[in-house]
Amino acid sequence: MSAIKNVILLGAAGDLGKYIYAALVDADFDVTVISRPESNSIYPASARVIKTEYSLEGLTEAFRGHDAVVSSIAVPAAFAQFVMIDAAIAAGVKRFIPSYFGYAVDKTPLPEMEPFSAPKTEVLKYLEDRVVATAEPGLTYSSVACGVFIDWAMKKFPVIGGYQKERRMNIFDSGNATFTGTTMEGIATSVAGILKNPGPTANRHVKVRSIQTSQNEIVAAFEKVTGHEWTKTYLDSEETYAVAKEKLKVNDRSAILDLLSVVLFRDGGGQGIVASREASDNEMVGLQEEDIETIVRRVLNPNELPM
Ligand SMILES: NC(=O)c1ccc[n+]([C@@H]2O[C@H](COP(=O)([O-])OP(=O)(O)OC[C@H]3O[C@@H](n4cnc5c(N)ncnc54)[C@H](OP(=O)(O)O)[C@@H]3O)[C@@H](O)[C@H]2O)c1
Repeated sequence: MSAIKNVILLGAAGDLGKYIYAALVDADFDVTVISRPESNSIYPASARVIKTEYSLEGLTEAFRGHDAVVSSIAVPAAFAQFVMIDAAIAAGVKRFIPSYFGYAVDKTPLPEMEPFSAPKTEVLKYLEDRVVATAEPGLTYSSVACGVFIDWAMKKFPVIGGYQKERRMNIFDSGNATFTGTTMEGIATSVAGILKNPGPTANRHVKVRSIQTSQNEIVAAFEKVTGHEWTKTYLDSEETYAVAKEKLKVNDRSAILDLLSVVLFRDGGGQGIVASREASDNEMVGLQEEDIETIVRRVLNPNELPM
């Protein structure tokens, strides 16, 4: 497959998109950002930004002359990707990376999680079907399964990063269940790595990981890095699961985090492991694993350079 040079990025100012934009520019791709007319997002001053309606005509025109389209748009906007895929085909784009960035597609999540993951899996299915139906040489795809956004989640969710000011963490079951995660820079490196290596990554669910870890390892790393013992409160994942099901009955969306905690931390679960080190695609995309202490240090000291 011929080299990819000109890349479109949608969602470039988002939590993940910012990292992808920086990684693509660093990797010497020629990047064009596409955004909605009503967007208030702020982009780097040097970014080339095109604002267009997300219509077939508008997007086809904007995509023309580009080799790849990367979507990092927000979950509530997932269905806007149907028209992006159609426009990519109409414009002769070679690779589409959808805003998937989730868990392994071959793992069965809890049935209660399916309505929340449905938009992403529907987009993925549409993309696969359209790629198969398109004559060669046509569009190809790569989706990125990266598991938890590990450093982002440590800052945002106490179930992953604890209550850092209070030095305490709620631990599910034994705390030994392991799951995989990828750092924001690691995910962005993987996206750039896919586009640098288009042949092997074509029509593939690319599985990446910065780390496989557990709640016990995370809390131990916070204790070591901060030099203070943390208070641990032990919770039963089955009780949390039961509470989540009750919350769903009254449409309480905080159930999502409870369900995710069950998937990731339940003893004997393993549903949060995107791939073993050996089965991952890290090498294919040029991603290195990291250790938990390094990640925790960077979460606590965001300006510290990677070691
Ligand atoms: N695995 C994990 O732990 C994890 C965690 C977080 C996110 N994710 C995934 O990462 C991906 C990106 O998420 P994010 O948190 O980075 O997204 P985000 O910051 O919430 O939003 C990204 C961009 O989406 C665009 N957008 C927002 N509303 C839109 C709409 N109605 N129509 C079209 N575009 C819209 C905006 O771009 P413009 O303003 O430029 O149009 C926005 O900057 C998603 O697939 C999400 O599920 C995974």
